Amino acid sequence: MSDTLNPKKIALITGLTGQDGSYLTEFLLSKGYEVHGLIRRASTFNTGRIDHIYTDPHIPGTRLFLHYGDLSDSGQLINIVYNIRPDEIYHLGAQSHVRVSFDIPEYTGEITGMGTVRILEAVRRSGVKTKFYQASSSEMFGATPPPQNEKASFYPRSPYAAAKVYSYWITVNYREGYNMFACNGILFNHESPRRGETFVTRKVTRALANILGGRQKKIYLGNLYAKRDWGFAPEYVEMMWLMLQQDTPDDYVVGTGESYTIKDFVEKAFEYVGIDIEWNGNGKEEKGKVRSLDKKWEGILKAGDAIIEIDPRYFRPTEVGHLQADITKAKTILNWQPRTTFDELIKIMVDYDMKLSCLEPVGEGIKICHAKDFSYTNHEYSFYEKIREIR
Ligand code: NAP
Ligand code: GDD
Repeated sequence: MSDTLNPKKIALITGLTGQDGSYLTEFLLSKGYEVHGLIRRASTFNTGRIDHIYTDPHIPGTRLFLHYGDLSDSGQLINIVYNIRPDEIYHLGAQSHVRVSFDIPEYTGEITGMGTVRILEAVRRSGVKTKFYQASSSEMFGATPPPQNEKASFYPRSPYAAAKVYSYWITVNYREGYNMFACNGILFNHESPRRGETFVTRKVTRALANILGGRQKKIYLGNLYAKRDWGFAPEYVEMMWLMLQQDTPDDYVVGTGESYTIKDFVEKAFEYVGIDIEWNGNGKEEKGKVRSLDKKWEGILKAGDAIIEIDPRYFRPTEVGHLQADITKAKTILNWQPRTTFDELIKIMVDYDMKLSCLEPVGEGIKICHAKDFSYTNHEYSFYEKIREIR
């Protein structure tokens, strides 16, 4: 970790206990920031992703501070912004699950949409001069055909996406109306070993490890044919910071520029551990079966075993068929280039989930992760801790 900045910069992160928030916290601490995070009160611990960097605030030199609050509670948001007086706010907190947003549309609007105006108002009413990052999403493009860039139209296909469109425009409005330094990062899907377990990539890599560990028989999935532009989360949080370091506030698309189906992800994940999958049947009857397998998995699986099946429960009333980013603007203005490929991402996620399941990982993914200069993050540490708990 580098020395404290002089003068010290202060960041406030909403959603710091989530996938992106945890990486961003590590990244900003490594840059010398003092970091404050909004956390929700829960009856169980929800700080698993940041426990490895948390230190007692009484210890001199501590630069990470947590504050209870909720995006539904304006009073506390104003209180926190006024008292902390952050130089930068990263607003990542949201009900972020698209499928779940169809079950709880009103709550999703309340948190993912209205939560943003609450925090913008906290900034405006407190009079604190700060830069603001809004976690906008490629889901906002919805049914607009790819490739999608900053000028593509929004055509939201879920309550989540509709709420994000509101948040996007209210951020632009506060930039134009109140001269705030406010940016939208329109991020395409980004994944990691810390991805929430119910998003499709992590669901697959986690289930794969459970199957190989003999704890699960098969995976039930929804639409196998949607295409996503999947990148590696730590790179994307670096982009959030970069946007706020520019001379003028603007909105940027961040992705890899490539897209793959869910089926591609499943096939490549299993291929990495030595299992070849073949597909039979159509629609709800489609199944992924073991065609051949590495000797070491004999006894756990055999050729012909159906390990992927469809459960219509995971279909969405309206689906987003194809997301693929056009990253020309980020490349040109921010000089950014994605540095982790789809294949590498899968290897990283499979390796860490194998570790978590107490299996010997294949190892390529962990090497890739170490070689790509993500020294501010510590997958090893946080995951070893979890492995110890399981044992
Ligand atoms: P995530 O893992 O689901 O994290 C969401 C965070 O929001 C968690 O810290 C969560 O707290 C917090 N939160 C939820 N409801 C809240 C509330 N009512 N009050 C305060 N905090 C609340 O999401 P992520 O993948 O890190 O994504 C970060 C942000 O980027 C989200 O806004 C997401 O919509 C957006 N985004 C993500 C992607 C992606 O591919 N990951 C792409 C584009 C945009 P708990 O830990 O207590 O649940
Ligand atoms: N979650 C899930 N579970 N998705 C499945 C499944 C399943 O069992 N089977 C197929 N899918 C398909 C979904 O229908 C969707 O087309 C695709 O896999 C990706 O789903 P998720 O991983 O849930 O992500 P998402 O694309 O809906 O949303 C994520 O990315 C957005 C950016 O584009 C979230 O992180 C959002 O918060 C984010 O804004």
